[in-house]
Amino acid sequence: MSEIAEVKLQDLNTQDFIEEKVRQISSLVGEAEAINALSGGVDSSAVTMLGHRALGSRLKTYFVNNGLMRENEPQEIVSLFKKLGVNVEIVDAQEEFFNALKSITDPEEKREAITQTFYKDVFGKLVKMSGAKYLLQGTILTDVDETVAGIKRQHNVFEQLGIDPQEAFGYKIIEPLVQLRKDGVRKVAQALGLPESMFRRMPFPGPALAARIIGEVTLEKIKTVRVATKIVEEELSSSGAFQYMAILHQDRVTGMRLGKRDFGLQIEVRCWDSVDARKAAPRRLPYDTLDRLANRVVTEVGGVVSVTYNITTKPPSTMEAI
Ligand code: XMP
Repeated sequence: MSEIAEVKLQDLNTQDFIEEKVRQISSLVGEAEAINALSGGVDSSAVTMLGHRALGSRLKTYFVNNGLMRENEPQEIVSLFKKLGVNVEIVDAQEEFFNALKSITDPEEKREAITQTFYKDVFGKLVKMSGAKYLLQGTILTDVDETVAGIKRQHNVFEQLGIDPQEAFGYKIIEPLVQLRKDGVRKVAQALGLPESMFRRMPFPGPALAARIIGEVTLEKIKTVRVATKIVEEELSSSGAFQYMAILHQDRVTGMRLGKRDFGLQIEVRCWDSVDARKAAPRRLPYDTLDRLANRVVTEVGGVVSVTYNITTKPPSTMEAI
């Protein structure tokens, strides 16, 4: 396992970095075809732009609709990239992901099911269809660190776990951002000409809303956490915090509605201040904001009778719930 040479923010010259990565991608891929998955996050967006600079139309970019994304996310990302001159094809893989997640409650098993479905089933098929030899992806150093340390198995880390993607999935993986952390990626994304809404975009995990459901992931639970996520994002977008989210708990609690007992759902809200996601602290949100959030969630999200705000730091918490 080779050691990854970190490029720290203060040492990052974005133009040199971009030139070097474009050169590396071109020489590795040669005349072959490559594909990549765009999720709309800053990492995969930066990789998409680097890949298109290096390979032009020999890079095919897909948005995998796993059914676990936020409201309207697939359409919004595709139209944004269209404006940047990059054609993105949506792949409907909702059924595959929900089937793979059926009956699984353990967090790491959920992550593994998502990883296998994404890389083996969905991408395996796309690679075969397209004849591509390479997959470009936006793994960053924090993903590798946490996976190797055994804290969380990030969906996109293989080589550092001793997994050879060529053997496991039938294609090679190129990771142009693996020496950077989130702050460095944002700088590179800006230098690549991505709009501010993208290079400042809040991080969102690969396993998407499945990372925010405790217990089994079902379509119904995804719908619930999706509505709660929309409310939390609307209410906290002006906070400037690093990341904020809604989590759907498995346990129910007794509530009351219209004078009757309602054994209902619980939503937990988290809002993090962080520089690079390695450490994080909860934002001290004004009570009025929390009040508004709670009111909206119990009014607009069906079945929810309890809203809590997490006041723990990372560590010992992690940022996502699973
Ligand atoms: P944690 O929960 O490990 O999260 O404190 C740190 C940062 O990483 C994101 N995250 C993920 N990103 N695949 C990803 O691409 C994953 O499996 C994953 N798990 C967590 C999380 O949103 C936070 O920004």
